[in-house]
Amino acid sequence: MDIFKIEGPVRLSGSIEISGSKNAALPIMAATILTGGKSVIEGVPDLADIKVLANLLGTLGADVSRAGNGDLEIDTTVIDNPVGEYDIVRKMRASICILGPLLGRCGRAEVSMPGGCAIGDRPVDIHVRGLRELGAEIHLENGIMIAKAPNGLKGKRIFLGGPFGSTVLGTANIMMAATLAKGTTTIESAACEPEITDLAGFLNKMGAKITGIGSPRLTIEGVDSLTPTRYRVIGDRIEAGTFMVAAAITSGKLELTNCCLDDMVAVIDVLENIGVVIEPAESGCIVTRDGGRKAADLTTQPYPGFPTDLQAQVMALLALADGNSVITEKIFPDRFMHVAELNRMAANLRKEGPCVIIAGVEKLVAAPVMASDLRASAALVLAALAAEGTTMINRVYHIDRGYERIERKLNAVGAKITRQSI
Ligand code: EPZ
Repeated sequence: MDIFKIEGPVRLSGSIEISGSKNAALPIMAATILTGGKSVIEGVPDLADIKVLANLLGTLGADVSRAGNGDLEIDTTVIDNPVGEYDIVRKMRASICILGPLLGRCGRAEVSMPGGCAIGDRPVDIHVRGLRELGAEIHLENGIMIAKAPNGLKGKRIFLGGPFGSTVLGTANIMMAATLAKGTTTIESAACEPEITDLAGFLNKMGAKITGIGSPRLTIEGVDSLTPTRYRVIGDRIEAGTFMVAAAITSGKLELTNCCLDDMVAVIDVLENIGVVIEPAESGCIVTRDGGRKAADLTTQPYPGFPTDLQAQVMALLALADGNSVITEKIFPDRFMHVAELNRMAANLRKEGPCVIIAGVEKLVAAPVMASDLRASAALVLAALAAEGTTMINRVYHIDRGYERIERKLNAVGAKITRQSI
């Protein structure tokens, strides 16, 4: 079990290259199931979650390897065991996105129902509803979803909206399954996240016929087969947003490369309101602070709104603002495991239902804290960079799930982070 020891406060300065997007790479890796043969995916980050999905694809029959240049090579000529085991699926909920491709390719699948999650209730009822609309028969047996489509899937108009708006991986699952269905599928209330746009780009490069990409209405004309291809995933906008906050919370200056500002409009809007300056630059941007520490309110929403995956990180920043801020979490109303830990660092945060009221403080103070989930742990790292003293963060395996070598990237621009095994 690794821990981080982080000295603060520091002022960051330098350049960081943003890794490929975890949340684009995962469904793209699953989409290779739809075709037989070797696909090559470029820019896939070296993360624990990627390893879990690579392992899962291996248990289905695929051959997954990393080339010397880091490209991920996935050979799905053989998919002879369409079964997503509990022991793997429980490690990573995104494993659910093999369900649609397996149904599309094999006409059957057995995938363990994902269990509980630190960020709150995360049912998969919309995934199941959408696949049933395409003609699949799905029932639950001892915690496993048994899915069959003996006569193949059939295109249809499907409404995929849920109680919190669109679903990202739900859209991915239905879109992937529909590529090999008979006839045309229209997904209404589809997720518009850049990761879904990237997945659609990959599918179309394999020969799929998807239109309306980036809009809430996706149209997928089913085809007989898809062909393996080579593809580069987009940069990780959540990692980029995390480092934008790192520059701001340390009053530093960071150049971020391989990040697409067009995918971050709502994030930039909120950060600029707080006094962060984001200047476009070649293949990315330069992030500084205009000296102010303005308070601000924000509400998380489906894309193009403010992403829930940056809520915790911006909370750490607003904890040091002049004045009161309110954050409203509209996607995962219970996603506040970081609140108590930030309060241990002398922040002044109060949870009220799906909101947190933030009374800005002059400074944060180091303390031993506990990481609970991926983005909460990123917020603790950011707070520790600004806090006075040595912060100890336990369970950093959470952060390794979604940030590639974060301590090396931050130490290269002036942080003082040591990783220790205990
Ligand atoms: C994706 O999860 C991301 N994960 C999450 O990032 C991200 O927080 C989330 O989208 C929202 O942006 C990946 O892409 C691998 P949803 P996903 O289905 O697809 C409810 C990270 O930190 N819902 O869009 O699982 C659900 O409970 C991770 O990298 C249903 O009710 O999220 C939630 O309230 C964490 N029924 C809302 O919809 C369903 O069948 C949005 O969830 C599906 C979802």
